[in-house]
Amino acid sequence: MTDLPFTTIEAVDAVFLYIFGIAALLLVGITATMVVFVVRYHRRRHPQPQPSPSSKLWLELVWTLIPTLIVLSMFWYSWEGYLKLIDVPPDALKVQAEGRKWSWNFSYENGRSSDRLYVPVGRAVRVAIVSRDVLHSLYIPAFRVKKDAVPGITTYVWFRAPEVGSYDLFCAEYCGVSHSSMVTTVEALPEAQFSAWLEKSKKPSAAGGPALLSRHGCTGCHSLDGSRRVGPSFLGLFGRQTQVLSDGRERTLTANQDYVRRSILQPQADLVQGYPPVMPSYQGQIPPDELQTLVDYLCSEPLSAAPAGP
Ligand code: CUA
Repeated sequence: MTDLPFTTIEAVDAVFLYIFGIAALLLVGITATMVVFVVRYHRRRHPQPQPSPSSKLWLELVWTLIPTLIVLSMFWYSWEGYLKLIDVPPDALKVQAEGRKWSWNFSYENGRSSDRLYVPVGRAVRVAIVSRDVLHSLYIPAFRVKKDAVPGITTYVWFRAPEVGSYDLFCAEYCGVSHSSMVTTVEALPEAQFSAWLEKSKKPSAAGGPALLSRHGCTGCHSLDGSRRVGPSFLGLFGRQTQVLSDGRERTLTANQDYVRRSILQPQADLVQGYPPVMPSYQGQIPPDELQTLVDYLCSEPLSAAPAGP
């Protein structure tokens, strides 16, 4: 291995191997003893039951002390590993991860944000984890870190990507119908490449429609190609005759700019028939200029083609 500083991978793997090793030894040892006893003390060899001793102090001490020491050593070793997981290196890069139904958004101290977690390779990264709505859980198996995103509090994990590459990042807490679409990646880049990415288009309002759809998590539930997901597809949205439920009353409307805007801010106001009322309100979550960009984009040329299927 290289002289890479300590990573969370080592902290967890060492403990895992230790506990797994002890479990494997016990499995083999107990099974072997059992087989030997079954043969040795078979009824054919000992037709008459022998009186057994009522107690044997040294034996009882051994079978009490040894397992106690083993369990305590597992606890101590795990505790050491746990301390390494919560003890963030002081030079760590700070990122915030927000879980929401149903996507992740990562924001950096300079205002840059992304739906993928970009990090510099080899450097410690501290991820503060928040939730906008329900319980989620940030899980990066390659770095052995997993922590719940709990509404109202901020949790965190830290890790260090050992090599350049793309690593899976999941939601590991069942959070509703599209829980499984909360999948993204950690992209570990060389330091220089990461700095260049971080400085690129810092100003969020510079982003166009497609970037905003992804940043605000819209595409987690709404497809751009006409396919059905948790919500209706964006393809062919503008001008579509839409059956909706408004205040418990069925009606048909033609999707226009006002309707699109209202559906972002008050999703339950005109609920499209056949879809569950699960979209959270984006009132106060999207700056006015970004909202306008989104509405313009959703009602624009590239998305106005008629959908291929239902
Ligand atoms: Cu978020 Cu499961």
